[in-house]
Amino acid sequence: ALVTTTEMFRKAYDGGYAIGAFNVNNMEIVQAITEACKKENSPVILQVSRGARTYANHTYLMKLVEAAVKECPDIPIALHLDHGPDFETCKSCIDGGFTSVMIDASSKPFEENIAITKEIVDYAHKYGVVVEAELGTLAGIEDEVKVSAEESSYTRPEEVEEFVTRTGCDSLAIAIGTSHGAYKFKPGTNPQLRFDVLHECEKKLPGFPIVLHGASSVPQEYVQMINEYGGNMPGALGVPEDQLREAARSAVCKINIDSDIRLAMTGTVRKYLTENPADFDPRKYLKAGRDAIEAMVRHKIVDVLGSSGKA
Ligand code: G3H
Ligand code: 13P
Ligand code: NA
Ligand code: ZN
Repeated sequence: ALVTTTEMFRKAYDGGYAIGAFNVNNMEIVQAITEACKKENSPVILQVSRGARTYANHTYLMKLVEAAVKECPDIPIALHLDHGPDFETCKSCIDGGFTSVMIDASSKPFEENIAITKEIVDYAHKYGVVVEAELGTLAGIEDEVKVSAEESSYTRPEEVEEFVTRTGCDSLAIAIGTSHGAYKFKPGTNPQLRFDVLHECEKKLPGFPIVLHGASSVPQEYVQMINEYGGNMPGALGVPEDQLREAARSAVCKINIDSDIRLAMTGTVRKYLTENPADFDPRKYLKAGRDAIEAMVRHKIVDVLGSSGKA
């Protein structure tokens, strides 16, 4: 059924696991993710960015998710706006059938972030929709807002309690060293998330669900496939899976994954087209891509997030 994240997060928090929040743009991606979750009996969050809504259009995305809900009647599915930039976008998703929205005012000063977030919480809660907010800035690219490495700042644990209390938000994204995209760390360095910051935030917010953005592991299998079949992504590197497992066991209840989906699709389609140069039926290569995403999502659920069997 189409649900909010409230029950999912409560169970994930108590059970020491996390729900995967996967970005969707088209039919094949929706099918791959929900089929994996159906097979694993896992709850799931399908999330849509502003860019995805521009690409696929709100109505098409709603209907794709409705179809997935119908095809997977036994698993909880939440539909979430990823990185909502302003009140109007959040309102449009709340009015349009989403069960959860993120307002990302993390680039704004503390007081302004609180004011913007609270306005959306007040509106969303009237309609039974839940709100994710963000405190701290991720390195890399946040949608169209570029945050340079020097500007990026970890979440300040001393601020989280006041922020959550004053805004009334339902979950909080924090910055502990992840970033968006396929180039999260310099090759040759030792990627290390700031679990000390996470645990400080956790202590200040007992029982409260924390969200991890930029959590793709950038599987080297797919990076190599892309590079081998005509692509050019040297040095692509993600969050080590062991650190994601550790995060999932903590108060982190939602782990965001987009880049890994893109890599699985792109690597597989490149390989398919190279190996089958005479094929021109999109169903052939999109099926190959869809199968790869499904396998990748199943692996996340079973081996990383721990949400298998939790529907
Ligand atoms: O956080 C960003 C997500 O990966 C969505 O990316 O804005 O290119 O759709 P997008
Ligand atoms: P990745 O780029 O690591 O997949 O992060 C996705 C994300 O945080 C979407 O909000
Ligand atoms: Na958790
Ligand atoms: Zn994000």
